[in-house]
Amino acid sequence: MASFRSYKLQFCLFLVLIGVASAQLSSNFYSNSCPNALSTIQSAVQAAVNNESRMGASLLRLHFHDCFVNGCDGSILLDDTANFTGEKTAAPNVNSVRGFDVVDTIKSQVENVCAGVVSCADILAVAARDSVVALGGPSWTVLLGRRDSTTASQSAANSNIPAPTLNLNQLITSFSNQGLSTQDLVALSGAHTIGQARCTTFRSRIYNDTNINSTFATSLQANCPSNGGDNNLSPLDTTPTSFDNAYFNDLLNLRGLLHSDQELFSGSNGTTDSQVSSYSSSSSTFFTDFANAMVKMGNISVLTGTSGEIRTNCRVTN
Ligand code: HEM
Ligand SMILES: *[C@@H]1O[C@H](CO)[C@@H](O)[C@H](O)[C@H]1NC(C)=O
Ligand SMILES: *[C@@H]1O[C@H](CO)[C@@H](O)[C@H](O)[C@H]1NC(C)=O
Ligand SMILES: *[C@@H]1O[C@H](CO)[C@@H](O)[C@H](O)[C@H]1NC(C)=O
Ligand SMILES: *[C@@H]1O[C@H](CO)[C@@H](O)[C@H](O)[C@H]1NC(C)=O
Ligand SMILES: *[C@@H]1O[C@H](CO)[C@@H](O)[C@H](O)[C@H]1NC(C)=O
Ligand SMILES: *[C@@H]1O[C@H](CO)[C@@H](O)[C@H](O)[C@H]1NC(C)=O
Repeated sequence: MASFRSYKLQFCLFLVLIGVASAQLSSNFYSNSCPNALSTIQSAVQAAVNNESRMGASLLRLHFHDCFVNGCDGSILLDDTANFTGEKTAAPNVNSVRGFDVVDTIKSQVENVCAGVVSCADILAVAARDSVVALGGPSWTVLLGRRDSTTASQSAANSNIPAPTLNLNQLITSFSNQGLSTQDLVALSGAHTIGQARCTTFRSRIYNDTNINSTFATSLQANCPSNGGDNNLSPLDTTPTSFDNAYFNDLLNLRGLLHSDQELFSGSNGTTDSQVSSYSSSSSTFFTDFANAMVKMGNISVLTGTSGEIRTNCRVTN
């Protein structure tokens, strides 16, 4: 009897181990191993956003640029070294993505409460959610248990992260390649309700596009000359420190900053026009769809179980 029970226990343990080896993400992943992980990340994100509201946008974008390049595995955080070229210097990231120092601060605070337990990839997913909440957007339950890559791919970063010059069909294909729908594309593009873009990313739009309000285009040209000023910033929507639905209203008014933004709304027969209109009239519809799409994006090709590692320092493999 006793040995039968012991056999059953061992069998259960075996099933648990199998489960861990092929695990899916779960909301309670750290509840025993690091119960203070989430509150530690949340406080650090709040402090960073209080210091500089744009940091909320920058942290949200880091998670996106991580997930679109071989999955949400913290690969974007690896520094280049003499014999390793990572994603930070890929064209969509270099001189553009920011927030690495804040991620280091969060990671060291999390290491102080539980060393070697919480992955850098999970920190990015939680920081993205906490950033959206800090700027007035929706909350959602972040699924956890991602592990960190031991590699990165500059070429995948160059090919998978969508460029602002893409047209609607190309944007749809880019998201579809990641298992995300056209509805997810429109909802997730609503992330451009916060943050800033550099002149170099919208210059051709404000000088050459025709689907732009001319008053808006002229006002942007003052800070984005046709030559020079590449790094001059403009807000991505009319309220760049509030996570709201103003971005979609801007699109209805032909005031999308990026060419790719305005591709989502043509004003005539565009296939995504009705979704943009719907979000512009209902922030709660946008918030619900955005939160669901963030959970989907955060699940792209994650490493779980015994794959990958838990990095000690997000910038280098162990
Ligand atoms: C749909 C395709 C997308 C394109 C073509 C695109 C492109 C861009 C570009 C060109 C910038 C400005 C970068 C710079 O000036 O250096 C930017 C900024 C930003 N993007 Fe996207 N993006 C897309 C989707 C997304 C998604 C899905 C998210 C997050 C869920 C996101 C979040 C952000 C944020 C928050 C910023 C502002 C960052 C800051 O101020 O530091 N973007 N994006
Ligand atoms: C606060 O934000 C400024 C930029 O506005 C930055 O230079 C500084 O490093 C930040 N301080 C901390 C502690 O994050
Ligand atoms: C990178 O180069 C250094 C110095 O040459 C060497 O010690 C290290 O093992 C190399 N790392 C890899 C991953 O090849
Ligand atoms: C606008 O288009 C013209 C003609 O194609 C091109 O020569 C010019 O470089 C473009 N300007 C910008 C700012 O992209
Ligand atoms: C462009 O925006 C201005 C407000 O700044 C508005 O008065 C004008 O009607 C708009 N132009 C068009 C063509 O919609
Ligand atoms: C809208 O219709 C015009 C004229 O039929 C066509 O040229 C254009 O490609 C269509 N646009 C979309 C987004 O379907
Ligand atoms: C995450 O991805 C796995 C594997 O593709 C899938 O089985 C699971 O349903 C996904 N979960 C969510 C919440 O999307």
